[in-house]
Amino acid sequence: MPTDHRDWYDTPLYYDIIFDADTPREATFLENVWASYGTKSRTRRLLEPACGSGRLITEMARRGWNVSGFDGNQRMLDFAKERLRQEGMKARLWADWMQSFTAPKTAHYDLAHCMVSTFKYLLTEADATACLQRVADSLKPGGVFALGLHLSDYASGQEAHERWVAKREDIEVVCNTHTWPANAKTRLEEMRTRLKITHAGRSHMQETRWNFRTYDARQMKTLLRRVPDLSLVASYDFTHDMESPRELDDSYADIVLILVRN
Ligand SMILES: C[S@@+](CC[C@H](N)C(=O)[O-])C[C@H]1O[C@@H](n2cnc3c(N)ncnc32)[C@H](O)[C@@H]1O
Repeated sequence: MPTDHRDWYDTPLYYDIIFDADTPREATFLENVWASYGTKSRTRRLLEPACGSGRLITEMARRGWNVSGFDGNQRMLDFAKERLRQEGMKARLWADWMQSFTAPKTAHYDLAHCMVSTFKYLLTEADATACLQRVADSLKPGGVFALGLHLSDYASGQEAHERWVAKREDIEVVCNTHTWPANAKTRLEEMRTRLKITHAGRSHMQETRWNFRTYDARQMKTLLRRVPDLSLVASYDFTHDMESPRELDDSYADIVLILVRN
């Protein structure tokens, strides 16, 4: 079957079909984080940098949050806006970059989040630092930032493979990812995503190659020290179990850091 080489994020529906299964669970986790670490402000203003197809934007709006988000990909934003329109909900969405974004107001948001390793698209320490500082500036004092990402084990040298299958109406998406070992020198890891999309009995393939910046626990602590406006108050793994907080260390890979604006 011929394969299109294209940016997965230019096909927001296929992204949304694969990732949407986890949306309610992640939204509940964010609300639990807010209940445990937030200021209990009644404004409930939420910011999602790199909001993509808007699956969490929509879900948090349904739960009564006053949501804002931005993304670098206009097709993702258009998809998010159209879904909000169909559901009769409002959110403030705009095109922007994580490393240089301008939020409408500073010290405005109660909660911000960036889950599923999106932060690792920032390929330099300068961009990662700039993003964290901008998030800090956007939050009210006491506001919370939940940052979810996959930590690297440089020693493992292993390639990783994951497979997801999801369906929406008559569209089935099979997603295979292949990740090459993290390079300790360049701080980069390469990932390939292959999608097989079957719609009304016809299939096609599309493939995207990505580069991510890598972190182990020590490198993440170094980065956090560059932004003293944010304090690490807790860490969790991707089970999102509030009863089981973890340390920021290398004993597990998928981590959610809970950072509070001083
Ligand atoms: C894995 S998706 C996550 C989307 C959403 N946050 C979610 O949880 O479903 C990654 C998104 O990051 C966006 N993106 C990647 N690099 C970016 C950057 N530097 N600035 C803004 N958006 C970026 C992509 O366009 C894509 O929509």
